[in-house]
Amino acid sequence: RDVTPLPPLTAIPPDLQTLADYERVAERHMPAASWAHVQSGSAATLARNRAAFERISLLPRMLADLRGGHTRLTLFGREHQAPILFAPVAYHRLAHPEGELACVRASAAMGIGMVVSTLSSVPLETIAEAARDAARTLGVAPVPLWFQLYLQEDRAVSAELVARAEAAGYEAIVLTVDASIKTSGFALPAGVTAANLPGGADRRQTSAPGGRILFGTRLADDAPSWDDVAWLRASTRLPVILKGLLAAEDAHIAIAHGAEAIIVSNHGGRTLDGAPSAIDVLPAMAEAVAGAAPLLIDGGVRTGTDIVKARALGATAVLVGRPQLHGLAVAGMAGVAHVAHILRADLELAMAQLGCPTLDRIGPACLFTRAS
Ligand code: FNR
Repeated sequence: RDVTPLPPLTAIPPDLQTLADYERVAERHMPAASWAHVQSGSAATLARNRAAFERISLLPRMLADLRGGHTRLTLFGREHQAPILFAPVAYHRLAHPEGELACVRASAAMGIGMVVSTLSSVPLETIAEAARDAARTLGVAPVPLWFQLYLQEDRAVSAELVARAEAAGYEAIVLTVDASIKTSGFALPAGVTAANLPGGADRRQTSAPGGRILFGTRLADDAPSWDDVAWLRASTRLPVILKGLLAAEDAHIAIAHGAEAIIVSNHGGRTLDGAPSAIDVLPAMAEAVAGAAPLLIDGGVRTGTDIVKARALGATAVLVGRPQLHGLAVAGMAGVAHVAHILRADLELAMAQLGCPTLDRIGPACLFTRAS
């Protein structure tokens, strides 16, 4: 397909009412290669990420007292307007020329925290500055920003990224541990770079998938290990959050290494083909962690009922990845803000229908399980 993408819309048309609508419309607003890259993932795991939510039934409750209802929660001492964050997603400028700046302004306007990727296409300091400017203009409290770290080959480069994030006012470091070895062949279009990294390039060795021997190479021998988690814990005063765990045993090890929260994730189906969905492993993770650290999840979260299901099974909050880029491609900042608004409004409706005016009221009793 070689069609010129449509420019971003300047007004939101009334037929855009769900995240699925945004996904459908976004395709025409992005170059074909970028669209394919954003949507890509293991077909089985991608399908599972949605199917796992769809399999769960909710049990509505009637005539509950909903006065004083809200969706706020406190995380690391900071108030969030809803249990929703924007997941770290590389290269927002693939979707819109303003890239991460448009996303963070939406984030600030909606009070939805954002996790900025190591591979952001705008420097992390510029993003933090835009968030502060937006909060000042809108007269709202600054939104919590977290920085996502991909460990770099050279530890000094990783240390520098962490120091920059601290200096710029980021409030947590999210260490992504499930994508140290990657095999994407996607070539960035002209004008889009890894703005935080020396030379503007992601140096985690990318190689064409298939046929490449891994063991015995530097890629395998230098891959990050639990020692790097201990190193990071000792190198920053910020909370360290591990992203990309699925095994209960890894959750134990993470907490023993000082992780203050865990993001249960299969990277949007982009890493191990055949990995389970986060929502399916969540009960085992919650049991393993036993309240020692908040659990967040991502992968296929697209509706308010998905968020309720995640909360009922033990998650504190959820993150959304691709929908940010869909919103950006369709209508820039307004599109991302609308995506956040849809999720939040949809969550409130689901909570009301379940008779839960606040997040702490959502629990296993919200789930319907067929008596066997
Ligand atoms: C990602 N993800 C990701 N994760 C991360 O820690 N650092 C990154 O730079 C990226 N980059 C990235 C790019 C693109 C195009 C996608 C789709 C995903 C993974 C992301 O944080 C999150 O785990 C998933 O996107 C969640 O799944 P959904 O919401 O996209 O279904």
